[in-house]
Amino acid sequence: MLVAAGGLALETAEAARAGGLSVEGCVDDDEGRWGTLAGGWLEVLGGLDLLAVRPDSPVVVCAGHGRVRERLVRRLRALGVGPERYTSVVHPSVDVPQSCSVGPGSVLLAGVVLTASVTVGRHVVVMPHVTLTHDDVVDDFATLCAGVRLGGGVHVGRGAYLGMASSVREKSTVGEGATLGMGGALLTDLPADEVWGGVPARPLTGTPRHP
Ligand SMILES: CC(C)(COP(=O)(O)OP(=O)(O)OC[C@H]1O[C@@H](n2cnc3c(N)ncnc32)[C@H](O)[C@@H]1OP(=O)(O)O)[C@@H](O)C(=O)NCCC(=O)NCCS
Repeated sequence: MLVAAGGLALETAEAARAGGLSVEGCVDDDEGRWGTLAGGWLEVLGGLDLLAVRPDSPVVVCAGHGRVRERLVRRLRALGVGPERYTSVVHPSVDVPQSCSVGPGSVLLAGVVLTASVTVGRHVVVMPHVTLTHDDVVDDFATLCAGVRLGGGVHVGRGAYLGMASSVREKSTVGEGATLGMGGALLTDLPADEVWGGVPARPLTGTPRHP
């Protein structure tokens, strides 16, 4: 069962189906979508409370931003959906080597590469063709958009968001809740909750918002 009937739910459903799993459908807060088909094929079965009455269905929260995933996980906890209910979805094209781990609730889409000693936490989203190299640690609720590349020994903090095709120099840290804009090249540590972008990445001028 997938939570939040957006584009990431469609992508997660396809990754799950490619791996031979069956997808029951998704749940969403938007009552107007209940009984409809997301993307024309993924059934929107009802609201979040449906998960409480289907205790045998493993769950993946599919909101595109980590802060929203975190809020949904908190709400689901209050509805009786505990940590044991979450499963990870890893596209079959992705090899998870013995020295690497992927936490429950996380999604790894097609073409993701993990080389060695990579730790991916809970409810992390790793979009297509992301490259994670030795000793990288990605904390819970982080989001790595398509084509992100991390050098070795990088630490991505809880709920951080790395935009498409951004890259992070080895041994750097992306702070909790920080955003690196698409195409950015991060050469130093990025402080928590800040929004940086560019090559080399710097704090963005104006009033950039987190996506
Ligand atoms: C960084 C980001 C979050 C900022 O979004 P925003 O708050 O809407 O930013 P704005 O478009 O208002 O731009 C604010 C300023 O930052 C600059 N800027 C925005 N994104 C930038 C980027 N990726 N690199 C460099 N500069 C950027 C803008 O040019 C603008 O500069 P100005 O004030 O000098 O005109 C967004 O641009 C981004 O990169 N999002 C990630 C997109 C992505 O990967 N999506 C994948 C979805 S699956």
